[in-house]
Amino acid sequence: MIQASLTKVPRTLLLPLIARAEVSRWKNPELYDEKAIQLSDSLDYDKKKIIRNMLESGMLGLAVRAKKFDAAIRNFLTTHPKATILNIGAGLDTSFYRVDNGTLTWFDLDLPESMALRKKLIPPPSRVTYIEKSMLDYSWIDDIGDISNGLFIQIPGVLPYFKEDTVREFLTTLAARLPQAEIIFDVCSPMGKVVISERIKKSGMGDAPLQWGITRPEKITSWSPHIQLVNAERFFKDIPKKWSYSFKTWYLMGANDRYKVSQVFHFRFI
Ligand SMILES: C[S@@+](CC[C@H](N)C(=O)[O-])C[C@H]1O[C@@H](n2cnc3c(N)ncnc32)[C@H](O)[C@@H]1O
Repeated sequence: MIQASLTKVPRTLLLPLIARAEVSRWKNPELYDEKAIQLSDSLDYDKKKIIRNMLESGMLGLAVRAKKFDAAIRNFLTTHPKATILNIGAGLDTSFYRVDNGTLTWFDLDLPESMALRKKLIPPPSRVTYIEKSMLDYSWIDDIGDISNGLFIQIPGVLPYFKEDTVREFLTTLAARLPQAEIIFDVCSPMGKVVISERIKKSGMGDAPLQWGITRPEKITSWSPHIQLVNAERFFKDIPKKWSYSFKTWYLMGANDRYKVSQVFHFRFI
């Protein structure tokens, strides 16, 4: 068993990992992630408390987020089979193991603290490189090298932890420097920011409150003429409500989408 002694935002990397692992154990799961099960079983943490406080709907939401990001990457790979995929705020994300087509080039980027745990648990396979940097240290653009076969960036569960000014500066910088790249990330609404922060706190991650809430993707396209909207989708769009889910989960899936509490935004830089 490996002790995961992380602080602040890096500690939150346990939540999506545990969610993907737990949902994978359900009957007919929305996402099956064998690597997440293996990793989750090898970590020493208060799993029961985390699972209890994430709620069934929270775990489903995190699994569905991974499913939607996977679909967008797979779709990009159909036209760019040798693309570079950059996974920002990688944590213990396992999407490489779900979407690898055998020809892509993959980079996982995270802060040194989180990367230290990742390296210990998941040594990088071939075609995968780890970058130990903040996403705000733009020297990673040089690190990823040639992107003439296409660049797709995924940022699951990271941007809401930053203030809007920082997100704006980050996205407009990337849009200016990485034309033709596509980027996908999840957002929460201003109300969602409060509700989700509370759930994160209850899971024992209280020192990492969310800072940015947004509902309209047009706000982001208004920041730069180089940012074009590809898709904005509520978390549970096209996700069936199953009889095995609790009534509370049914209600929260509906409420999430009605009030746009959590969404996936996908943009292209032009
Ligand atoms: C909620 S976790 C998400 C982990 C992973 N994306 C997933 O879905 O399993 C947030 C991640 O963002 C990372 N992070 C926080 N600040 C960062 C920064 N400035 N640059 C890169 N990563 C950062 C943390 O270390 C952590 O791994």
